[in-house]
Amino acid sequence: MGINTTYKARSFDLSGLTGISDETLAMHFKLYEGYVKETNNLTDKISEFIKDGNVDQDELPAYSELTRRLGFEYNGMVLHEYYFDNLKSGGGSGDPAKPSEFAKAAEASFGNYETWKTDFVGIGKMRGVGWAICYQNPANGRISNHWITLHETGNVAGFVPILVMDVWEHAYLLDYKPAERPKYIEAFFSNIAWDAVDDRLKKSSGAQTARA
Ligand SMILES: [Fe+2]
Repeated sequence: MGINTTYKARSFDLSGLTGISDETLAMHFKLYEGYVKETNNLTDKISEFIKDGNVDQDELPAYSELTRRLGFEYNGMVLHEYYFDNLKSGGGSGDPAKPSEFAKAAEASFGNYETWKTDFVGIGKMRGVGWAICYQNPANGRISNHWITLHETGNVAGFVPILVMDVWEHAYLLDYKPAERPKYIEAFFSNIAWDAVDDRLKKSSGAQTARA
C-alpha cells in the first residue's frame, strides 16, 4: 500500500498589496508550488520504500534522509498557505480595529496590542532565515509569538497558527535590500487580512470554550 497524499498547489488572489510588489508575489507563488511538488515527490519516494512491508537496513540511509526532508517541505507548503491567506488583496487597514477578536486576544495574553506587536515585530527582525508566527494554544486560548528556523524548527505541536509572517529574504528581496527587513515588516502589517486572522482565532477559541 502507498501513502495516499497528493497535494495540489492553491492559487491566491493577492494583487495590489502595499509595499509588496506583484512581481514578488508571482515569484513567491512559484516557490510555494515547489514545496507542494516536493512534498508529493518525497511522499511518493517514501511510499516506494515501505510498500514491500519492510524498510531494509540498506535502505535506511536514503529513507531517513527523505523522511527528514519531509518536515521541511511539508511546513514550507503549509506555512506559505497560512501566509498568503493572512494577506489582503488591495492592502489592509494596518492595525486591527479595537473590538476585533485578535485585539482582545492580544490584550488578554500580552496586556495590550502594542506589547504583542513589539514582540512579534522583534521576532521578525531576528537574524536568520525563517518565520515569525503568532500561535494560539487551543488548551487555554492564549496567544504567543515564536521564531521558526527554516520552516520546521520551533513550531509548537498542537498550537494553531494565527498570524504567519515569512521573513525569508525571498519574501522581500525584489522590493527591499536585505538590510531593509524592517520596511518589509511594516509593509506586511499594512496588508494583513485581520478578518482572516480573527476567523482562525474564533475556531481555536471555540474549541476552548467547548472544553471549559
Ligand atoms: Fe516564502
